[in-house]
Amino acid sequence: MYPSQYEASLTALAQARERNLAYEPPRMTAEEKETLLRTYHPDYKTDAFAALAVGKNKGDAVPHELCEMLHAHSRITPADVDLTAVMYDVDVLVIGGGGAGAAAAIEAKEAGASVMIVTKLRIGDANTMMAEGGIQAADKPGDSPAIHYLDAFGGGHFAAKPELLGKLVTEAPEAIRWLDRLGVEFDKAPDGTMITTHGGGTSRKRMHAAKDYSGAEIMRTLRDEVFNREIPVLDFTAAVELILDENGRAAGAVLQNMETKELLIARAKTVVLATGGAGRMHYQGFATSNHYGATADGLVLGYRAGASLLYADTLQYHPTGAAYPEQIFGALVTEKVRSLGAKLIGADGTVFMHPLETRDVSAAAIIRECTARKNGVETPSGCGVWLDTPMIELLGGAGTIEARIPAMMRMFGRFGIDIRVEPILVYPTLHYQNGGLDIDGTCMTTGVENLFAAGEVVGGIHGRNRLMGNSLLDIIVFGRSAGRNAAAAAQTVKPGALTLSHVEAFEAALSAEGIVSDAVSPKLLPNYTGRRSEI
Ligand code: FUM
Repeated sequence: MYPSQYEASLTALAQARERNLAYEPPRMTAEEKETLLRTYHPDYKTDAFAALAVGKNKGDAVPHELCEMLHAHSRITPADVDLTAVMYDVDVLVIGGGGAGAAAAIEAKEAGASVMIVTKLRIGDANTMMAEGGIQAADKPGDSPAIHYLDAFGGGHFAAKPELLGKLVTEAPEAIRWLDRLGVEFDKAPDGTMITTHGGGTSRKRMHAAKDYSGAEIMRTLRDEVFNREIPVLDFTAAVELILDENGRAAGAVLQNMETKELLIARAKTVVLATGGAGRMHYQGFATSNHYGATADGLVLGYRAGASLLYADTLQYHPTGAAYPEQIFGALVTEKVRSLGAKLIGADGTVFMHPLETRDVSAAAIIRECTARKNGVETPSGCGVWLDTPMIELLGGAGTIEARIPAMMRMFGRFGIDIRVEPILVYPTLHYQNGGLDIDGTCMTTGVENLFAAGEVVGGIHGRNRLMGNSLLDIIVFGRSAGRNAAAAAQTVKPGALTLSHVEAFEAALSAEGIVSDAVSPKLLPNYTGRRSEI
C-alpha cells in the first residue's frame, strides 16, 4: 500500500508491465560502463577521500571516515597496560564472531590447536547473518572454476590478486560440500540436486542458496559447530589493540569488556583477524545493509600493528537497498529478486537497464536515474527506482515469491506492501568493503608475521568490485584456510616478550606528521547520537 503521491508512477508501471516483461534490455558496452562509473559511482568522488599520513600505505587515498579512524588515538595508553597479567593463553586467538571467524576456529580446533573466539557482540552478530542471496560455486556440468574465475576477475575490474581469486574459485565446490555436510539446508530439487541461479555478472547459474536467508542459515550451522566442538567464545569483548612480541610478530590482543571496560590480556601464538566490514561507517552518508558492528575495526588494529592495506578506497554500494518505507531504509533487497526476474524501472514506467549488470554498474545507473535523468521516485529519504517484483510471479508462477524469497515478502509485508502484487522502491546502500588487509595465499597479512586475516577485513580477493555470492564463499574458503594455517604456524612459534611499542610508535608518527585528532579507534560501535563523549 503506497501513499497517493506514487499513484501516477505506479499506474505508468502497471500499464507498461506486459511490455516490460517481454523486453530484453541490452547489456552495456565496456565504454558505457566505464563512463557511467566515473560519473556516478561514489568510489569516483575524489573529494570523499583523504590521503593517509602514516603507516605502510602512507599517501594512499581512503574514505575520509576511515582516514579519521586510522589517524585516531588508541583506546589504551600502552604504559598503563600490564602485559604480564595474561588472562587467556591460547595457540590461536580468533578475533571476530562471524562466518570467517567461526570457520577459522573450527578448522584450528580440528588441527589440534587450542583456540578462542573473542567478539565485541555475540557470536553470529555479523554481516554473515545478514547475507541473503547465496553462495557461488562452480559445481555443475557446463561450469568450472576457470569460468567462475573469469566472471569474478572481469567483475572486479581485473584487479583481484590472481593467487587469492584462484584459491576462492578452486576451493568453492569443497566449501559447499563442507557446509552441506555440516547441515546447511540448501535449496534442493526433489532429486537432491542443488537449485542454483544467476547473480549479477555470472555467466552460469552457480548461486547456491537457502531461500533468501542463506547467510543466517550458514551462520546458524557454523555457530552450532563452534558450540558442539566446545570452542570457547568470549562475547561482548572487543579487541582494542593487537599485541606483538619483541620480534614484531602477532602474539595476542588487548581485550576490553564492552560493559565494564575492564582490559584483559590474551596471549596467543598466532592471531586470526576476522572482524568483518565497515558499513556502519556510513561512507559518504550512505545508509547500510550491514550489521551494527561493522565499523572497520580490523583495518585499524592491523594497520597500527604494521599490516598493509589493499584497495581500501573501494566500497560496494549494493544497488538495491530498500528506499521505502523509511523504517527499513538501506536494508538489503537481495539480488536474488532480480535473478528471479524482477526488472529495474524508472518513475516513468520504463526499464532503464539490464537487471543483472555487475553491482557497481547497477548502483551507478540507479544513481544516474535519480540525479541526471530525474527519473527516480521521490521518497522520504531521497529517491528510489522501482523493482518490479510482481514480474517474478508472472514468470515463475504463483507461489514463487513465498517459496524462494520469503524474507523479502515478510520484510515489506510488515509495512503493508505485498511484493507479489506491488513493486518496491530501491536505492543503493553501503554493503561491502572491497578493500582491506593485504594477505598472501596462506592468509598471512603482509607486514605482520603470524597475523592471519579472513573474511571482509581482507582486500584483494575480489579486486575493485565483488560479485554476489562470492563473499559467503570467501568467508568459508579463507576462514577455513586461515584457521588451518594459523594452527600449523602455532606449532612452531615461541612468542617472545609481549609489547605494545607499535602503538606508541604509530602515535609518535602521527604527531610527527602534525596530525591532531580528538577521535579514538577502533570505533567498535556506531554513534548515532552525534555526541563525541559516546564515541
Ligand atoms: O544481494 C544479495 O543477496 C547479497 C549477496 C552478497 O553480497 O553476496
